[in-house]
Amino acid sequence: MVMVCDPTAVLAALEAEQPLGVLERSVPEKLTVAVIGLGYVGSCIAATLADRGLDVVGVDTNPMLVGELSGGYCRFQEHELAETLLRATSAGRLRVTTDYAAVATAKVVLIAVGTPVHDDGSLADEQLRGACLSLSGHLRRGQLLVLKSTVPPGTTRELVLPLLEQGGLVGGVDFKLAFTPERLAEGTALAELRTFPIVVGGLDEESTWAAAEFWHLALGVRVLPQDSLESAEIVKLADNWWIDLNIALANELAKYCALFDVDVLDVIAAANSIPKGNGNVNILLPSVGVGGSCLTKDPWMVWRSARSRGLEIHTAQVGREVNAGMPEHTAQLVIDELVAAGKDPASATVAVLGLAFKNNTGDLRATPTQGFVAALAKAGAEVRVYDPLVDPGLAEEVFGVRPAGTLHEAVLDADCVAVLALHREFEGIDFGALPVAARCLILDGRAYYPKEKIAALRRLGYDYRGIGR
Ligand SMILES: NC(=O)c1ccc[n+]([C@@H]2O[C@H](COP(=O)([O-])OP(=O)(O)OC[C@H]3O[C@@H](n4cnc5c(N)ncnc54)[C@H](O)[C@@H]3O)[C@@H](O)[C@H]2O)c1
Repeated sequence: MVMVCDPTAVLAALEAEQPLGVLERSVPEKLTVAVIGLGYVGSCIAATLADRGLDVVGVDTNPMLVGELSGGYCRFQEHELAETLLRATSAGRLRVTTDYAAVATAKVVLIAVGTPVHDDGSLADEQLRGACLSLSGHLRRGQLLVLKSTVPPGTTRELVLPLLEQGGLVGGVDFKLAFTPERLAEGTALAELRTFPIVVGGLDEESTWAAAEFWHLALGVRVLPQDSLESAEIVKLADNWWIDLNIALANELAKYCALFDVDVLDVIAAANSIPKGNGNVNILLPSVGVGGSCLTKDPWMVWRSARSRGLEIHTAQVGREVNAGMPEHTAQLVIDELVAAGKDPASATVAVLGLAFKNNTGDLRATPTQGFVAALAKAGAEVRVYDPLVDPGLAEEVFGVRPAGTLHEAVLDADCVAVLALHREFEGIDFGALPVAARCLILDGRAYYPKEKIAALRRLGYDYRGIGR
């Protein structure tokens, strides 16, 4: 057995598959793990760990969600998630409950409750407080607690630790505590959980190595230990800060290219060809905007947690503002093109295909499509919405219009077809057969149609406009 506190020896041992002994278990099958919060992230983690052979117990305060999961139903649309959950519950490797007493059997406890932000960017910590307080009454000596939820730096040490200690046990003495960011993306979550390197930062060295050993045993992935809880907390924020800001750059580059009649995709492809740092320049793609629960809130977490310590962070705010303005900018492109075609936007019909914020998902959380639809409706246009992956009731709630039941119904006599998510279902659309109005505009908000496709659309009599194209 290696010394627990020698970083080089620990990493070497992990790579050589030698047990560190920190968890007192070297066989994943003998580890019981509790996952607190069975929302989208918690369900993906619980399913993946159970599929790897671990004994998993999931705890959520939402009895309806727990009932669904124990009944074999998964409300989250994620590739392979429903099947993996079903496999795990049927094999008895995953149990779900609302009762925190179940945590007592676990060697490792993962916390994945929601951490939204208030309008001022501060953490809405009710779920996290509730989970930690409930846990504090059920902790056992020797357990490893790992926070997965995204939080401002300092939260694990200053909020989570004291709440957990309210039950009388002391962090670093009676239990270990670490932070491990969750960096998966919707649509590819399970594959990413099985392959992405895992970042760990602990309350002390023993906590860091216990968490490193756990993730290595549980998932077999590369572990990147950090010097502190705060370092690991910032890694997650840095990732999303970078992604949001990079997309903002792409969006402004698109607007810039449009000034010179240049296709932004050509510029990005060529610009990305030179090596820089550890890879190439890597400008992402422009679009109708950024959505989902993470990219829209995490930069504000950075901004707010810096500001409360007297530091003004400009880039997080600028990235957010540029991306938040894209739905209206995209709607304005439609209005300008309709006017250029001699059509009055106030009496035009616009069909929106793809409402979710991401291709091949039905997720409407913070979808930029909402701002696009609202801006066109404000200009007086009749807007029809269609997305076969989105629950129609939810779509009506978000967009205020009943979604069309079919593609045909959505595009009938439309002056513009706006493709805002290129789901697989839309890839094979026969544009020549669509019953649209004469001189219909194709607005490409995320489809990134290649030049040959654009030329083909023009031959069919369509106008075409993309973001920066
Ligand atoms: N959604 C993503 O793609 C994603 C990606 C990476 C990281 N994250 C982060 O992961 C965390 C979870 O995100 P999510 O999308 O799964 O959120 P979610 O809202 O889908 O799930 C949160 C779950 O926690 C449960 N919960 C709330 N209070 C509880 C309590 N006291 N005890 C037990 N359960 C409780 C809720 O009932 C809900 O099921 C957040 O911090 C988020 O920022 C999310």
